[in-house]
Amino acid sequence: MKVYLDYSATSFKKPNEVFKKIEEFYKSNNTNPGRGGYKLAIEAGKMVLNTRNQIKSLFNVGIKDHIIFTKNVTESLNIAIKGLVKKGDHILISSIEHNSVYRVVEHLKEQGIIDYDIIKVRKDGTFPIKEFNKLFKVNTNLCIINHASNVSGHIMPVGEIGKICKEHNIKFVIDGAQTAGSIPVDFKELNCDVFCFTGHKYLMGPTGIGGFIVKDDIAKDIDTLIDGGTGSFSEESTMPKVLPDRFETGTLNTIGIAGLNGALTYLLNQDINDIYVKEKEMHDRLYEGIRDIPGIIFYGDMEVEKLPVISFNIKGLDSGELAGILDYQYGIMTRSGLHCSPLAHETFNSLDGSIRISIGHFSTNEEIDYVVDILNKLGNYK
Ligand SMILES: Cc1ncc(COP(=O)(O)O)c(C=O)c1O
Repeated sequence: MKVYLDYSATSFKKPNEVFKKIEEFYKSNNTNPGRGGYKLAIEAGKMVLNTRNQIKSLFNVGIKDHIIFTKNVTESLNIAIKGLVKKGDHILISSIEHNSVYRVVEHLKEQGIIDYDIIKVRKDGTFPIKEFNKLFKVNTNLCIINHASNVSGHIMPVGEIGKICKEHNIKFVIDGAQTAGSIPVDFKELNCDVFCFTGHKYLMGPTGIGGFIVKDDIAKDIDTLIDGGTGSFSEESTMPKVLPDRFETGTLNTIGIAGLNGALTYLLNQDINDIYVKEKEMHDRLYEGIRDIPGIIFYGDMEVEKLPVISFNIKGLDSGELAGILDYQYGIMTRSGLHCSPLAHETFNSLDGSIRISIGHFSTNEEIDYVVDILNKLGNYK
């Protein structure tokens, strides 16, 4: 049996709509949108626009706000963070940030551009909302929060965080890598300025396509990260102010956008909450099945609403070795180590790494029961 349980890294199976749309676009069009004025290029532009509108529908984005395509959430976060800060700013991040935020702010600090502080998420996975504003300084300009931990699945109260940021005139950016497509996300309720997403995880699109949603009133304050051709305002020597052109430099990944379009066609025909509930039931089934293994340690409170992600260790078994045994002997694909999130592992006191099982759209109860059996066998007879 082959069991894929690494959906937090990427979705393994994709809906058929993804393959169909890629094939259709690649075979029948594949021209460069926004460049030529001929009919096929205009059709390609319509496909891209349709995909932006799908994103707007999925996340309930306001009519004036903008969808920008990038290659992944890492690029989106780099554009938002580097484009919003100025010399002397103070930034806040949380202690469950992925390296796609941590390394960016650390680099900016090394360059002498900003200083930053880390809001300590508690060991149980809760965000210290009451103590949050104690870290504000007069020069705090930006706060970046991971919507849900890719290590433990704990969901941060981003709506409340955004409200507090707004009251203090602090810009708010969300890393939505793990939540886009996995739980219902309403952009209007997030109280954020920028929501960054990646196409290949729970949105179930291909790799190489991601993006961000940006509020119209903040977009003009974001400096560009990459300058170049946009197919528009070519007579000007500087980047256009018009969106999305300002941030979509160079030829777009139209194949990726076509695949994402197929994935979104599929997702928009589903109820994301139904998808979440089904996956959360499997999460609870797995937890119930393995919680009594002698020496098992889970990270964060396991009995709260969270993403279907479980990180754990079994005393006496190295997480890397265990992941290897699960894969090579039993065909179970998990991820061990630090999951690009040393801060989160520091938060959960698991800096030696953990095994992460992340359940996704194509997971089944049979797969979960198989994993429960194998883990009990390995855990009880170690
Ligand atoms: C919370 C979080 N942020 C950022 C990323 C980076 O995603 P990508 O590689 O698609 O840019 C990941 C990927 O695992 C993630 O889990």
